[in-house]
Amino acid sequence: MSSREPLFQRVAIIGLGLIGGSLASAIGKHGLAREVIAADQRQEDLLLGLSQGVIDTVAQTIAEAVQGADLVVLAVPVRATRKVLEEIRPHLAVDAILTDVGSTKTGFVKDVEAVFGEFLPCVIPGHPIAGSERSGIGAANSDLFKNHKVILTPSDNVSKIHLAKLQALWEACGATVLTMSVAYHDEVLAATSHLPHLIAFSLVDTLAGEDQNMDIFRYAAGGFRDFTRIAASDPVMWHDIFLSNRDAVLRVIDHFTHDLDQLRTAIADQDSAMLLRVFSRAKAAREHFSKMLSGQAYVTNNSEKQVTFRLQPGGSVTGDIRVPGDKSISHRSIMLGALAEGITEVKGFLEGEDSLATIQAFRDMGVAIEGPNDGFVRIHGVGMHGLQAPRGPIYLGNSGTGMRLFTGLLAAQPFESELTGDASLSTRPMDRVADPLRSMGAVIDTAKGGRPPLKIRGSQGKKLKGIHYDMPVASAQVKSCLLLAGLYAEGTTSVTEPAPTRDHTERMLTGFGYKVERDGPTASVSGGGKLTANAIDVPADISSAAFFLVAASIARGADLILRHVGMNPTRVGVINILQQMGGNIEVMAEREIGGEPVADLRVRSAELKGITIPEDQVPLAIDEFPALFIAAACATGRTVLTGAEELRVKESDRIQVMADGLATLGVETTVTDDGIVIEGGQTIKGGSVYSHHDHRIAMSFAVASLRATEEIEINGCDVVATSFPSFVELAQETGINISAEGPGAGTEQGVP
Ligand code: S3P
Repeated sequence: MSSREPLFQRVAIIGLGLIGGSLASAIGKHGLAREVIAADQRQEDLLLGLSQGVIDTVAQTIAEAVQGADLVVLAVPVRATRKVLEEIRPHLAVDAILTDVGSTKTGFVKDVEAVFGEFLPCVIPGHPIAGSERSGIGAANSDLFKNHKVILTPSDNVSKIHLAKLQALWEACGATVLTMSVAYHDEVLAATSHLPHLIAFSLVDTLAGEDQNMDIFRYAAGGFRDFTRIAASDPVMWHDIFLSNRDAVLRVIDHFTHDLDQLRTAIADQDSAMLLRVFSRAKAAREHFSKMLSGQAYVTNNSEKQVTFRLQPGGSVTGDIRVPGDKSISHRSIMLGALAEGITEVKGFLEGEDSLATIQAFRDMGVAIEGPNDGFVRIHGVGMHGLQAPRGPIYLGNSGTGMRLFTGLLAAQPFESELTGDASLSTRPMDRVADPLRSMGAVIDTAKGGRPPLKIRGSQGKKLKGIHYDMPVASAQVKSCLLLAGLYAEGTTSVTEPAPTRDHTERMLTGFGYKVERDGPTASVSGGGKLTANAIDVPADISSAAFFLVAASIARGADLILRHVGMNPTRVGVINILQQMGGNIEVMAEREIGGEPVADLRVRSAELKGITIPEDQVPLAIDEFPALFIAAACATGRTVLTGAEELRVKESDRIQVMADGLATLGVETTVTDDGIVIEGGQTIKGGSVYSHHDHRIAMSFAVASLRATEEIEINGCDVVATSFPSFVELAQETGINISAEGPGAGTEQGVP
């Protein structure tokens, strides 16, 4: 026992089984009470507890245990609760806390009300989620609650002091304490604990009753053992739990049997699409189980991973690499593949968080998608009208492209939907798509200022109307959103852009057999057509290649080959700008693959010079400016960027955030409303910069290290996984001195 005053004087444990015994043992181990006294019907268990040092005192009766206790813990089977409470009531001290550890809470609350006539502020229902298929004091373990959750379901009039003390006790035993309402607890537990136990009991019982049961058990593979472990749990305890949580359990059983029945029908009818759809959705959900539990739907909650990049100055850049697949094309391949008739196979898919969120969104809408496995994805298209209503909000992580394109697509569906995203996405303007969609007849609610989440009412039988839209800003996302809505609209939808923007949507629609008219700056589609499945080979993303184009241009003695880079004319601004600055970039083996131009690039060190960036190049290099600012800082002379106010509403305000980071590294710049002026040739020192939840900011400052004089630390690099999960690995391979640290710096960032 520690020298500190313990939390409690006397803890009475009523019921010395697995949970009661483990709690008694943890209390003793951590010195949380002066005395632990226990009562149990089974004298031999009490004596065992005493001899093992789990408890200090054996009580002959419940009354004896409760008298003088400042904490009473009920750890009996839940159906015995009322009787035990009646024995406790006359002896419970006025300032004592009464809690329990049962798996259902509604029943406990009812019992307390029945016995005490009201729900006293000193009663706090509890439930440690830390059972085991083993039972009894013999299995007690003082570490049972370590790293487990304990749910408390206090009433509104709970004594706050009591609640804090009980919480402190569980935390001292190593648990994380959550609070929730009684009803919610019982619903959640019915689904996540009670139903699985019921199925395990039932399955083992069914198989045990089969004629060849010995053989079945003899040959049972690991799957059976894993799946049925919990069928060895205490029958009395589970009998009590099911009867006590009857209503919630019945609801979840009905839901499950309905879904099981659907699978039965699918097998009987040889409905492969249905089977694959359910299995792949379940597989993805299982893989992302812990993230789902943290409330982050199916994609990784990167913000919790806190990855930091650390770069030592003066690395080199040589070798022959292929950066991951194009993000824009990856998103679109899933979208069109899902809406097509037939099976679409995709190679070179970007397995980054953004495009994975798009896959998950379609799975949530009933599309069977296999993979991705090493960039290979197979999509079982459901046709233009085959999407199903998602069961909850669709979470798109960091992805602006995902959110804007989905808004167009979902506005035309008959069902309602909601789109949400992470902190960065939740600040980005969505009225640029919501407004024109509304003029097509869509009903969309946004949060304040036109920000996510978006609630999309759905067409409810009314078709959208085709419109002509003159885009005020050059945006491929807005254009693509309207074209996708236009596939479902009455008549023609046409979009005119003020400057050329990436045309992957138009190219891919054509590849899927959908007619897209192009007339100069205007693209149009007529509603009512269909898409036919197609094979897609995603080129390497020029936006990811850009970091290496700049890296090899500014590093000394660099010579790097980048393979299979997408060279769509609407994307090559970064090459044009670097070449104008004196960059040494050779374009080799130009070819066209699946409607998109591709080439290998060789880039070598160059003496860059500052330029005034032509405004017509801005939309063609819209994502590459953070990297280009680093090139400008290393050039001789002044670089001036204008006409780029769009940079302020990307994943971060890329003008300000880059200027701030450069200032930290000792490079002064002049920020303007629509651009920046950078005097090249200043010394890049070291320092600690922050990504502002923007992947391209993080990677740009990593590249700056090649010309820095001291170490650069970059915080918030978890988000790099949205577009370039293997960045660290590839950067190391070329000779950049980079390492990643923090809880999320595992293989996803490519760090061994
Ligand atoms: C994208 C379009 C661009 C770009 C984004 C991807 C796309 O955005 O910045 O990273 O895939 O359509 P805007 O169209 O809003 O400029």
